[in-house]
Amino acid sequence: SLVTSTEMFKKAAAGGYAIGAFNVNNMEIIQGIVEAAKEEKSPIILQVSAGARKYASPVYLRKLVEAAVEDSGLDIVLHLDHGEDFEICKMCIDDGFTSVMIDGSKYPFEENIALTKKVVEYAHERGVVVEAELGKLAGIEDNIRVSEKDATFTDPDQAAEFVARTGVDSLAVAIGTSHGAYKFKGEPKLDFERLEKITKLIPNTPLVLHGASTVLPEFVELCNRYGGDIPGAQGVPEDMIRQAAKLGVCKVNIDTDLRLAMTAAIRKFLVENPKEFDPRKYLGPARTAIKEMVKHKIRNVLGSSNTL
Ligand code: G3H
Ligand code: 13P
Ligand code: ZN
Repeated sequence: SLVTSTEMFKKAAAGGYAIGAFNVNNMEIIQGIVEAAKEEKSPIILQVSAGARKYASPVYLRKLVEAAVEDSGLDIVLHLDHGEDFEICKMCIDDGFTSVMIDGSKYPFEENIALTKKVVEYAHERGVVVEAELGKLAGIEDNIRVSEKDATFTDPDQAAEFVARTGVDSLAVAIGTSHGAYKFKGEPKLDFERLEKITKLIPNTPLVLHGASTVLPEFVELCNRYGGDIPGAQGVPEDMIRQAAKLGVCKVNIDTDLRLAMTAAIRKFLVENPKEFDPRKYLGPARTAIKEMVKHKIRNVLGSSNTL
């Protein structure tokens, strides 16, 4: 059935592993992720962004996820990714989501607290859990000054105050990751000292890492070999994700790596089979590519295999 992440996060924190939260936009993506979770006997979170709701329409996504639950027999978390205001969180809570993110990270501290509190109140009355975000996601650039870093990265003391005052269930932190395929200009670097400080201050709050795709070079190369043009893409090295999982990160958000896997498979198929025009012929391999990517993440990076 659809479940909250509460028990998943408790077990993950105790076990030193993390739960993958994968963005979903259509049937093939959902099927690929869920097949992987089933084979790996791993918990998963399926997350839906505002853009995904706009693309597929909310009812299609909800019904597809319900179909995945029914078909797989798995317990799955259905989560709103980056809810930007109270209204979208309310819509998703009313619609059966078991988890929502209220992303007030662009607001000043007090406004972020007020907005998050309002969502937490509405959600908790209905048995739904809430993720919030403190600090702004942006990569560490070579020339970034310490004062700038302190202004955008999550402040540990503020994180503790934020959690105490909002009652939020989990917290997304900014320690140097960013969204998309271009995360670092120079050498990849995350602020693990900061992460450790945050974990020490709020040991019972599961932390969330956004922008956690690795941007595996082989998939970028495949895209480029078969007609793509995505030069200089770079993500978070896999050992850094493993380290984060050991330091209190319970939820790891992955979208870009699924996009690259799916696009590489479709590009390759179409170039190698110019006479084919049946969409199932290339969406099938795309679904398999998603499944293989998620299996790799679960088994080799997140460490959540065989934890059901
Ligand atoms: O954080 C962003 C996720 O990758 C979702 O992206 O807003 O384009 O659906 P999207
Ligand atoms: P990536 O772009 O690194 O996959 O991050 C996805 C994410 O954080 C979704 O909320
Ligand atoms: Zn995100």
